[in-house]
Amino acid sequence: MALERTFAIVKPDAVKDGHIGEIISAIEQSGLKIVGLKLTRLTPAICQGFYHEHVGKGFYAELEAFMTEGPVALMVLEGENAILRWRDLMGATNPANAAEGSLRKRFGANIGRNATHGSDKPESAQFEVSYFFNAFEQF
Ligand code: PPS
Repeated sequence: MALERTFAIVKPDAVKDGHIGEIISAIEQSGLKIVGLKLTRLTPAICQGFYHEHVGKGFYAELEAFMTEGPVALMVLEGENAILRWRDLMGATNPANAAEGSLRKRFGANIGRNATHGSDKPESAQFEVSYFFNAFEQF
Protein backbone atom coordinates (compact mmCIF):
# COMPACT_ATOMS: atom_id res chain seq x y z
CA MET A 1 0.00 0.00 0.00
CA ALA A 2 1.17 3.54 -0.73
CA LEU A 3 1.98 6.04 1.99
CA GLU A 4 -1.13 7.69 3.40
CA ARG A 5 -1.64 10.82 5.50
CA THR A 6 -4.21 11.34 8.23
CA PHE A 7 -5.22 14.10 10.60
CA ALA A 8 -5.04 13.90 14.39
CA ILE A 9 -6.19 16.12 17.25
CA VAL A 10 -5.14 15.93 20.88
CA LYS A 11 -8.38 17.35 22.28
CA PRO A 12 -8.65 20.01 25.05
CA ASP A 13 -9.15 17.44 27.83
CA ALA A 14 -5.92 15.58 27.02
CA VAL A 15 -3.96 18.82 26.53
CA LYS A 16 -5.21 20.17 29.87
CA ASP A 17 -4.37 16.90 31.62
CA GLY A 18 -0.80 16.97 30.28
CA HIS A 19 -0.98 14.03 27.88
CA ILE A 20 0.44 15.54 24.69
CA GLY A 21 3.81 13.90 25.27
CA GLU A 22 2.43 10.42 25.95
CA ILE A 23 0.20 10.62 22.87
CA ILE A 24 3.10 11.74 20.69
CA SER A 25 5.22 8.90 22.11
CA ALA A 26 2.51 6.37 21.27
CA ILE A 27 2.33 7.72 17.72
CA GLU A 28 6.09 7.56 17.23
CA GLN A 29 6.41 4.13 18.82
CA SER A 30 3.73 2.84 16.45
CA GLY A 31 5.94 3.79 13.50
CA LEU A 32 3.67 6.57 12.26
CA LYS A 33 5.61 9.70 11.31
CA ILE A 34 4.55 13.18 12.45
CA VAL A 35 4.82 15.41 9.36
CA GLY A 36 2.84 18.39 10.70
CA LEU A 37 2.34 19.68 14.25
CA LYS A 38 0.84 22.79 15.86
CA LEU A 39 -0.84 24.00 19.06
CA THR A 40 -3.86 26.27 18.61
CA ARG A 41 -7.29 27.03 20.03
CA LEU A 42 -10.40 26.50 17.91
CA THR A 43 -13.02 29.24 17.60
CA PRO A 44 -16.70 28.31 17.23
CA ALA A 45 -16.58 29.21 13.52
CA ILE A 46 -13.50 27.09 12.89
CA CYS A 47 -15.09 24.23 14.85
CA GLN A 48 -18.29 24.46 12.78
CA GLY A 49 -16.32 24.29 9.54
CA PHE A 50 -14.31 21.34 10.75
CA TYR A 51 -17.27 19.34 12.11
CA HIS A 52 -19.64 20.48 9.34
CA GLU A 53 -21.09 16.95 9.08
CA HIS A 54 -22.22 17.14 12.72
CA VAL A 55 -23.59 20.71 12.87
CA GLY A 56 -27.31 20.37 13.65
CA LYS A 57 -26.99 17.03 15.44
CA GLY A 58 -28.21 16.85 19.03
CA PHE A 59 -24.70 16.62 20.46
CA TYR A 60 -23.15 19.40 18.36
CA ALA A 61 -23.47 22.22 20.94
CA GLU A 62 -21.72 20.07 23.53
CA LEU A 63 -19.03 19.08 21.02
CA GLU A 64 -18.35 22.73 20.10
CA ALA A 65 -18.25 23.88 23.74
CA PHE A 66 -15.72 21.16 24.51
CA MET A 67 -13.53 21.60 21.45
CA THR A 68 -13.23 25.39 22.01
CA GLU A 69 -12.63 25.29 25.78
CA GLY A 70 -8.85 25.23 25.56
CA PRO A 71 -5.86 24.58 23.32
CA VAL A 72 -5.61 21.56 21.04
CA ALA A 73 -2.58 19.92 19.42
CA LEU A 74 -3.07 19.27 15.71
CA MET A 75 -1.00 16.77 13.75
CA VAL A 76 -0.59 15.30 10.30
CA LEU A 77 0.53 11.67 10.47
CA GLU A 78 2.08 9.67 7.66
CA GLY A 79 2.56 5.96 7.11
CA GLU A 80 1.27 2.94 5.25
CA ASN A 81 -2.42 2.57 6.13
CA ALA A 82 -2.09 5.62 8.42
CA ILE A 83 -5.84 6.31 8.72
CA LEU A 84 -6.66 2.87 10.10
CA ARG A 85 -3.49 2.63 12.19
CA TRP A 86 -4.22 5.95 13.94
CA ARG A 87 -7.84 4.92 14.55
CA ASP A 88 -6.63 1.63 16.07
CA LEU A 89 -4.23 3.49 18.35
CA MET A 90 -7.04 5.80 19.51
CA GLY A 91 -9.60 3.05 20.12
CA ALA A 92 -13.40 3.35 19.85
CA THR A 93 -15.06 6.81 19.93
CA ASN A 94 -16.65 5.99 23.27
CA PRO A 95 -13.83 5.27 25.77
CA ALA A 96 -16.15 2.79 27.50
CA ASN A 97 -15.95 0.62 24.37
CA ALA A 98 -12.28 1.28 23.57
CA ALA A 99 -9.69 -1.50 23.75
CA GLU A 100 -7.44 -1.73 26.80
CA GLY A 101 -4.27 0.29 26.25
CA SER A 102 -5.80 2.46 23.52
CA LEU A 103 -5.44 6.23 23.89
CA ARG A 104 -9.14 6.87 24.44
CA LYS A 105 -9.29 4.12 27.08
CA ARG A 106 -6.24 5.62 28.80
CA PHE A 107 -7.12 9.31 28.57
CA GLY A 108 -10.79 9.70 27.57
CA ALA A 109 -13.69 10.15 30.02
CA ASN A 110 -16.77 9.66 27.83
CA ILE A 111 -18.01 9.89 24.22
CA GLY A 112 -17.78 13.69 24.33
CA ARG A 113 -14.50 14.13 26.19
CA ASN A 114 -12.58 11.42 24.40
CA ALA A 115 -9.01 12.79 24.21
CA THR A 116 -8.28 12.39 20.51
CA HIS A 117 -9.70 12.72 17.00
CA GLY A 118 -8.72 10.94 13.81
CA SER A 119 -9.97 11.08 10.24
CA ASP A 120 -12.32 8.22 9.38
CA LYS A 121 -11.64 7.85 5.64
CA PRO A 122 -9.34 9.18 2.89
CA GLU A 123 -11.75 11.95 1.78
CA SER A 124 -12.06 13.20 5.39
CA ALA A 125 -8.30 13.03 5.88
CA GLN A 126 -7.71 15.15 2.80
CA PHE A 127 -10.27 17.74 3.92
CA GLU A 128 -9.15 17.81 7.55
CA VAL A 129 -5.40 18.05 6.81
CA SER A 130 -5.92 20.89 4.34
CA TYR A 131 -8.36 22.66 6.70
CA PHE A 132 -5.55 23.24 9.20
CA PHE A 133 -2.21 22.79 7.40
CA ASN A 134 -0.91 24.48 4.27
CA ALA A 135 1.78 22.92 2.09
CA PHE A 136 4.60 24.75 3.90
CA GLU A 137 3.52 23.30 7.25
CA GLN A 138 3.76 19.67 6.13
CA PHE A 139 7.03 17.82 5.70
S1 PPS B 1 -21.96 10.07 14.24
O1 PPS B 1 -23.20 10.85 14.35
O2 PPS B 1 -22.15 8.62 14.43
O3 PPS B 1 -21.23 10.35 12.98
O4 PPS B 1 -21.08 10.57 15.42
P1 PPS B 1 -19.77 9.89 16.03
O5 PPS B 1 -18.88 9.39 14.93
O6 PPS B 1 -20.16 8.90 17.08
O7 PPS B 1 -19.11 11.12 16.73
C1 PPS B 1 -18.68 12.22 15.98
C2 PPS B 1 -17.93 13.17 16.88
O8 PPS B 1 -18.83 13.76 17.82
C3 PPS B 1 -18.43 13.49 19.14
N1 PPS B 1 -19.60 13.13 19.91
C4 PPS B 1 -20.04 13.83 20.96
N2 PPS B 1 -19.61 14.94 21.52
C5 PPS B 1 -20.28 15.39 22.61
N3 PPS B 1 -21.36 14.79 23.13
C6 PPS B 1 -21.83 13.66 22.59
N4 PPS B 1 -22.90 13.07 23.12
C7 PPS B 1 -21.17 13.13 21.44
N5 PPS B 1 -21.38 12.06 20.65
C8 PPS B 1 -20.41 12.09 19.73
C9 PPS B 1 -17.47 12.33 19.08
O9 PPS B 1 -16.52 12.41 20.11
C10 PPS B 1 -16.86 12.49 17.72
O10 PPS B 1 -15.76 13.36 17.77
P2 PPS B 1 -14.46 13.07 16.87
O11 PPS B 1 -13.62 14.27 17.05
O12 PPS B 1 -14.94 12.88 15.45
O13 PPS B 1 -13.84 11.84 17.45
